[in-house]
This record gives sequence, structure tokens and C-alpha cells, in this order.
Amino acid sequence: MTAGTEVRLRPMRWWDIPDAVEIEQALFPASPWTEAGFWSELAGVPATRDYLVAQDGTGLVGYAGLLTVAHEADVQTVAVRADRQGRGLGGRLLDGLLAAARRRDSSQVLLEVAADNTAAQALYAGRGFERISLRRGYYGPGLDALVMRLRLGERGVDAR
Ligand SMILES: CC(C)(COP(=O)(O)OP(=O)(O)OC[C@H]1O[C@@H](n2cnc3c(N)ncnc32)[C@H](O)[C@@H]1OP(=O)(O)O)[C@@H](O)C(=O)NCCC(=O)NCCS
Repeated sequence: MTAGTEVRLRPMRWWDIPDAVEIEQALFPASPWTEAGFWSELAGVPATRDYLVAQDGTGLVGYAGLLTVAHEADVQTVAVRADRQGRGLGGRLLDGLLAAARRRDSSQVLLEVAADNTAAQALYAGRGFERISLRRGYYGPGLDALVMRLRLGERGVDAR
């Protein structure tokens, strides 16, 4: 492993927001979350939100967030800096969110993903998410979203 590339996961804090926005703007140039958006999400920690970041010697390399209301969890975001994709980080971040969903006794985890985002769909399918519906125009005209769901068992045990 190259020096400075060991990645650790930890809870997201307010001082991570500028770096997260930079990654956000690079990955989602059409509709990036703003600093205000991240502040609003972090204001929900720990009541309804769980947010994680991945960090290595170069700084912030990814983040992920979960919203949980009434035992139903929603993946709000999963993002890995472009130069660190394809090395298992998205999977580690998603596993962190699923662990949080289980701690909160969620019965299921839902998410929306762009219909043409095959990389993210493969990530979710690999963790047992199944496509349950299509939302036409969810991301704008002609930009459809798939809704995917992972059912969790009683008391946080994975029911698959
Ligand atoms: C989607 C994303 C978070 C995945 O993160 P990552 O660190 O690259 O993913 P991982 O290396 O952990 O790969 C996990 C799985 O995803 C799939 N995957 C990842 N990149 C892929 C690609 N380019 N093509 C196809 N499948 C891919 C693989 O099935 C992989 O499984 P494997 O470990 O058995 O090979 C990352 O590509 C990203 O940030 N994309 C831009 C932002 C985004 O689209 N976020 C999701 C919004 S819903």
C-alpha cells in the first residue's frame, strides 16, 4: 500500500463540509449539494441522520449519509472521489450506513439511483438491494430514477 493511502471511516463533522462540497461539485456538476445542504443534513445527526466520511493521507475521499424515520431508512448520498473509485470504498461506506440502519432497527433501506448509473446500481445490488420501481423524470426531464430496496429482518438481522 502506498504511503498516505490507508483509508479510515469516521463520522462526518461540520469541518468536513467544504471538502465534501468540492467532491460533490466534481461528481454531480449539474446539481451538487451546497454547504447549506450539508449543514442541514448534519443538523439531523443523531436524531434522524447518520453521516460518515472516508479519509486518507490526501484528505477527504468519500462520504455517505442515511436518513431514518419510523424504522425506515433512506440512503441520502454515497460518493467517492473520482481518483479513489473502484477500490472498495463505496462498499465500505455503504456497509457503514447499513450498520447504522440495523442499529436503528430499520425494517428496510430505500434509495433512488439514476437509471443510467450502472456503477452505483451494481454497488447496491451487490449488497442485496432490489429494484422495486422506476420514477420517471425524478432527476429532471428524461432523467429517470430507479427505486431500490433492501429488506432488513427483525431486530436488525438481515432477512436475506
Ligand atoms: C457509486 C460509487 C459510490 C461506488 O464507489 P466505489 O468506491 O467506486 O465502489 P467500490 O469500489 O466499493 O465497488 C463496489 C461495487 O460497485 C460496483 N462498481 C463500482 N464501480 C463500478 C463501475 N465503474 N462499473 C460497474 N460496477 C462498478 C462493483 O459491483 C463493485 O463490486 P465488487 O467490489 O464486487 O467489484 C462511486 O462510483 C461514485 O462515487 N460515483 C459517483 C457518485 C454516485 O454516483 N453516487 C451514487 C449516487 S446514487
